[in-house]
Amino acid sequence: MDDLRERTNPVFNTAKATLLQLAEAGHADAAMMAEMLGLDLSGMTFDDERKKAMGKSNVATFELRYRSMNAFIEATGAKTIVDLPCGYTPRALEDFVADKRYIACDLPAVAEEMGPLVDKILAQRGLRRDVAYHGVDATNYAALRAALEGAEGPLCITTEGLMMYFTESELAALLDNVRRVLEEFGGVWITQDPEVARVFIAMSAIVMSGDTTAAKAVVAALGGSANMSTVLKAMAGDRAQSALNASKDAYGGAANVNFGNVMTIRGEPERAYAAAKDFLRAHGLKAELTPVARRMPKLSSLDPERTELARQAMENISLWTITPDGAARESGIEAGGVFGVDTAVDGSELAVTLRGRVDSLTAPEFLAAFEKAAAGKSLTAARVDMSRLEYISSAGLRVLLIMTKRLGAGRVTVTGANELVRSIFEQTGYDDILTLQ
Ligand SMILES: C[S@@+](CC[C@H](N)C(=O)[O-])C[C@H]1O[C@@H](n2cnc3c(N)ncnc32)[C@H](O)[C@@H]1O
Repeated sequence: MDDLRERTNPVFNTAKATLLQLAEAGHADAAMMAEMLGLDLSGMTFDDERKKAMGKSNVATFELRYRSMNAFIEATGAKTIVDLPCGYTPRALEDFVADKRYIACDLPAVAEEMGPLVDKILAQRGLRRDVAYHGVDATNYAALRAALEGAEGPLCITTEGLMMYFTESELAALLDNVRRVLEEFGGVWITQDPEVARVFIAMSAIVMSGDTTAAKAVVAALGGSANMSTVLKAMAGDRAQSALNASKDAYGGAANVNFGNVMTIRGEPERAYAAAKDFLRAHGLKAELTPVARRMPKLSSLDPERTELARQAMENISLWTITPDGAARESGIEAGGVFGVDTAVDGSELAVTLRGRVDSLTAPEFLAAFEKAAAGKSLTAARVDMSRLEYISSAGLRVLLIMTKRLGAGRVTVTGANELVRSIFEQTGYDDILTLQ
């Protein structure tokens, strides 16, 4: 099952990188957890100087994000923290969580590994904490709501390292789900995700520039409306940008982020901020932006001069505090009925029927059903009946891609897709590789 989960959603491996980076930054619990999980640094040790420098910049970036998020979470005063997605971070063990309820949500593969691990550590330390890990696809309202059963508001929902992986329809589902939950329980949703590209660029310049003159120029440009990639290129030549690109290939490409969706600030910042806020507004949410520098944590991974530069950069990089603004517009993505998949083989053609939602929770089952039906057969085509399918996320799209790779381009025919599913195919370019009827 783990293999099926990884093939339908490779992103969860990137969360292990955060843990290793925190360990590298000297976080003792992160180092202990990495060891207990059997992780090693081989995915992160780079043989060439350029990538090594990028590695250092990543360590500083993740240390800064993790520690500043902790400070912002604590400052909300919320008694219930919903970490969506929790990944493999040691947050459950942090002191500030002791008197809070910590609801950790991530894909089942992560939750099932983390839950027992954290229970074991807490038991070893003789600590009793209100901590629980849940398998949740953030686009799936029913799964998220189930994780919150019995929770007391107001909530602090915290998101770090998720939105940049999402397609627009997945973002829409996430926003609708968060809004519904905040309307019911009260509280806030905090995230630095929209700023991720700016953070990476600033931190690459700060850590990688030999002298700090170039870094200072990048930091200064963060406050203006300059296009950050252009600024970085002007300061550091192709070196910084190509190292940034190389780092995205870490973990077999699982970290490959396109930084391209509407909730990621890139390009000309003023326009990008306006587009992101419009998107939030369309989903009944509003954002208040606070400079991350307001809660600048102590960093172990940077020397004092570069820590000060990072602090200056964080004057222009924001934590987003998102709350409902009353004027909601539903995306049309519903919680979804029960998932089901049936297959039947007729000669060299496979017929598949899908029901409910195909997302990260259910895509492994879809892939398993396909592989079981296709095993040992020389199939040449497949027809997928989607007339009872409500929603498909990128994990489901990956299964359609695996089917197409096996059967050939255009040999997977989709029938009965609803308007939402069709628009997902169009947004993602899948209408080019599938035959839509
Ligand atoms: C880059 S990691 C970030 C995790 C953690 N917050 C951190 O800072 O390390 C991305 C996480 O998102 C999770 N993820 C990916 N798609 C998801 C989805 N649809 N619903 C919930 N979690 C998801 C992955 O399993 C992974 O743990």
